[in-house]
Order: sequence, then C-alpha cells, then structure tokens
Amino acid sequence: MSKNAPQSPPASGAFESHKKLERNVTLLAAATLAVVAIGGIVEIAPLFYIDNTIEKVSGMRPYTPLEQAGRDIYIREGCYVCHSQMIRPFRDEVERYGHYSLAAESMYDHPFQWGSKRTGPDLARVGGKYSDAWHVDHLKAPRALVPQSIMPSYSFLSDTELKVADPSASLTALRRVGVPYTDADIAKAATDLKAQADPEADAGDLGTRYPKAQIRDFDGDPKKVTEMDALVAYLQMLGTLVDVNSAAAQEELTKDAKGGGGK
Ligand code: HEC
Repeated sequence: MSKNAPQSPPASGAFESHKKLERNVTLLAAATLAVVAIGGIVEIAPLFYIDNTIEKVSGMRPYTPLEQAGRDIYIREGCYVCHSQMIRPFRDEVERYGHYSLAAESMYDHPFQWGSKRTGPDLARVGGKYSDAWHVDHLKAPRALVPQSIMPSYSFLSDTELKVADPSASLTALRRVGVPYTDADIAKAATDLKAQADPEADAGDLGTRYPKAQIRDFDGDPKKVTEMDALVAYLQMLGTLVDVNSAAAQEELTKDAKGGGGK
C-alpha cells in the first residue's frame, strides 16, 4: 500500500478506530483474543449448565475391586498399546464388534481406554465372547489358539498371586474423582477382591452391591487368587454391564438425541 493511495472510503468514526486497531499490534492481539474467546465460550459454557454431558443408561456401575485390579494389570501390561476399547458407530465396526460404545460405558474409567491403535481387535465388548478357559489359554500362549497371532504371552499371570496393596485406598481414590463407590464398597473392598474369584469364600452381598458381577474361579485354579483371575474377570465384564439393545436404553438414547444433550 502506497502512502499516496487515495483515502477511500471517506473516514468515518468507525473506520478511524479500526485503523487505530490495525496499527497497534498489542491492541490487535487483545481484540483478536477477545473475538476468539467468544467462540470458545459459546462451545464450552453450556457444558457447565446442562445436567449431564453423558447420556443416562441403566446398568452402568463402578467396577468391583477384582475387575478394577484386572484393569490395573491391563494397564500395567500395556494391553492398551495394541487394543482399543471403543467401537465407533460405523457399520463395519458394529458388525464386527457389536453395538457402538456409549459414553456412559467408560464413565468410571480413570483413565479411559478408548485408544485408536488396533494391532489386535477392539475389546470393548469382549465380555462373554469366549469362555474363561479360552482367555486363560490365549493369554498364556496366544499362538496355541490363533497360530498367526503376534500377541505376547502372559503366562506368568497364572503364577502370580494377586496382591493389591490397599484395595480400599484404590476405591477411595476413585471415589474422589467421581466414581460412586459407597462406604460399604470401600469397607469391604479387601474381602470383595478375594471373594469374587474364590468359590470357597462367602461373597456376601457382593452381587447386590455390584449387579451382574460374575462370581467364580476365573483362572481354573480355585486354590489361589491370581493376577490371571483379576484380568479374566475384567475382560469378561467388558461391555456386559449396559444392555445396549434393551428398550430402555434405546429410549434413553432417542430421548437424548432429541434433547440434543451433546456428548
Ligand atoms: C503386541 C500387541 C498386543 C498386545 C500388547 C496385546 N495383544 Fe491382545 N491381541 C493382539 C492381536 C494381534 C490379537 C488377535 C490375534 C489373537 O487372537 O491372538 C489379540 C487378541 C486378543 C484377544 C481376543 C480378542 C477377540 O475378540 O478375539 C484378547 C481378549 C486379548 N488380545 C487380550 C489382551 C490382553 C488382556 C492383553 C494384555 C495383557 C493383550 N491382549 C496384549 C495383540 C496384542
């Protein structure tokens, strides 16, 4: 722009002040920030006012101490490096893995295990797909069942007795971040942990406090509770808590879609 360029349109007040804005880099930066912030506020502010950003579905509950311990082993062993836990709403995924994942299904996951790297299949609905024995055999020697598998062997899990330093503390920590464990759940955490995988033990009201909890020996060795018990209990629970195809769940979903509740 040449200094001698004709000044048009005629300098009105608004034009003058915009010129001032354009020539002062600090002012321009501040004004740009203000304009961009409006977009951000419009997107974010409603999230603080709508009751729930996750659709309500029945059946979702906190994980039992044993499932939680299995989940910790899953994370420790890096299973998430090869496996995702989120079925996307695409036809190919739904046909292979089942109903697409609902946000509510991972609301008690800290941290969530969605992932995007699938060296192996998605595991969001693997619960009930195979028998306990299949999982144990597969984890011990994947290639014995799936000859072309590149999954590592985790046979040591069967020999390692399950040790959780303080099951109550782990549940208390989760409660702090919003997982609704009750006082009874926390008080009984240590007993629940062992009782879910020990056919000899008295599981008490475990099944009432944790609906659909599967109580049995998972690793084929009823004499001790191993890390294999915990991991298989966790895998067999995945995707089984919410009955996604039930009428109630569907109703909630359509209601949510109509209400535009967001995600
Ligand atoms: C190096 C990548 C890798 C890692 C790490 C890994 N897996 Fe796998 N996983 C695979 C592959 C590949 C398959 C498919 C072949 C097979 O079934 O073995 C698979 C299959 C599976 C299946 C069967 C899924 C189905 O629907 O058929 C389960 C269950 C499973 N893995 C659990 C685990 C668990 C639990 C861990 C951690 C202890 C783990 N995997 C770690 C690669 C991996």
